[in-house]
Amino acid sequence: MIIHAGARVSGCMVWLIGMKSQKREWYVNIFNGMGSDWEAIVNMRDTVKEVTFIRTAISKRGVILDLCCGTGRHSVILCRSGVNVIGMDLSRNLLMIARRRMSESGFEFPVVRADMRHFPFKNEVFSAIINMFTSFGYLPSESEDEKSLLEIFRTLRKNGRFLLDVANRDHIVRNFRERDWAEFEPYYLLERRALDLEDSRLVSQWTLVRKDRGKTKSIIHEVRLYTLTRIEQLLRRAGLVIEEVYGGYEKQEFNLEASRMIVLAQKR
Ligand SMILES: C[S@@+](CC[C@H](N)C(=O)[O-])C[C@H]1O[C@@H](n2cnc3c(N)ncnc32)[C@H](O)[C@@H]1O
Repeated sequence: MIIHAGARVSGCMVWLIGMKSQKREWYVNIFNGMGSDWEAIVNMRDTVKEVTFIRTAISKRGVILDLCCGTGRHSVILCRSGVNVIGMDLSRNLLMIARRRMSESGFEFPVVRADMRHFPFKNEVFSAIINMFTSFGYLPSESEDEKSLLEIFRTLRKNGRFLLDVANRDHIVRNFRERDWAEFEPYYLLERRALDLEDSRLVSQWTLVRKDRGKTKSIIHEVRLYTLTRIEQLLRRAGLVIEEVYGGYEKQEFNLEASRMIVLAQKR
C-alpha cells in the first residue's frame, strides 16, 4: 500500500522507518529485559483504583485468569480479597517479580508462563478473564490478536466476562503528541512517539534516565491501536458480545477524550 507522506500523522517518521527492521516478535524480550524498570513504571499506576474497578466488573466466584499479569500487581490484591486468581504471562522475569510480590504479601496464587495465542488450559474453566493496561495488540498481526480472543472464548465459561483495558486509538490520534516526559523514582522518562497509520501501530521510544547516576537506557515499544468499532468486530467474530464500555476506572464515559478504552464483553 502506498501512503503519501502527508497522510502520516507523525513528523518523526525517519526513526519509525528504521524501526520497521526491528524483529517482529520484539515483545518476547522487551518486558523480560526491562524487569525491575517495568516494575518502577507500573508502580506509578493507581493499582488499587484499577482493582476496585475490576471487582465491580466481574464476579468474585469461580476462577479468574489475569491474562498478561506482568508483575502480578492486580492478582496479588485480588487474591488478598479472596478471589481465586491465576496469572499468565510470557515474561519469566516479570513472573519472578510476581512471585516475589506474593511472598512479600503472604498471598499465593498460581502463575503460568505461556503465550496468549495458546492457553495451556482446558475449555470453559474461567468465570472471568482480565487483560489489563494495554496488554493486547503486541502480536505481529491482527489475526494473531484474534487467535488470543479465540483462546479467551474457549476457556471462558458460558456467561463468563472478559475485561479488556487498552488505549483508545481515537483519543491518541486526536491528541497526538510527539514527545512527553514523566518523572518517577528513580527515573526521568522521555517518550518519543510515532504513529504508523498503515498498521495502526503506536511506536514509542522510551528513554529512561536514572536520576542518581544519569545512566540512560532506551527501549522501543510498539503496540497496535484499536478503535471501539474494530474491537467490537473482532470480539463478535470470536463469540464475545460487548456489554459495557468505559473511558476510565471510575466508570467515566467513553468518548473521544477518554484515554482508555475499557471493554466488558460476555460469552453468551
Ligand atoms: C503493558 S504490560 C501489562 C502488565 C500487567 N497487565 C499490568 O497491568 O501491569 C504487558 C504484558 O503483556 C505480556 N505479554 C506480551 N506479549 C505476550 C504474549 N504473547 N503472551 C503472554 N504475555 C504477553 C508482557 O510480558 C507484559 O507483562
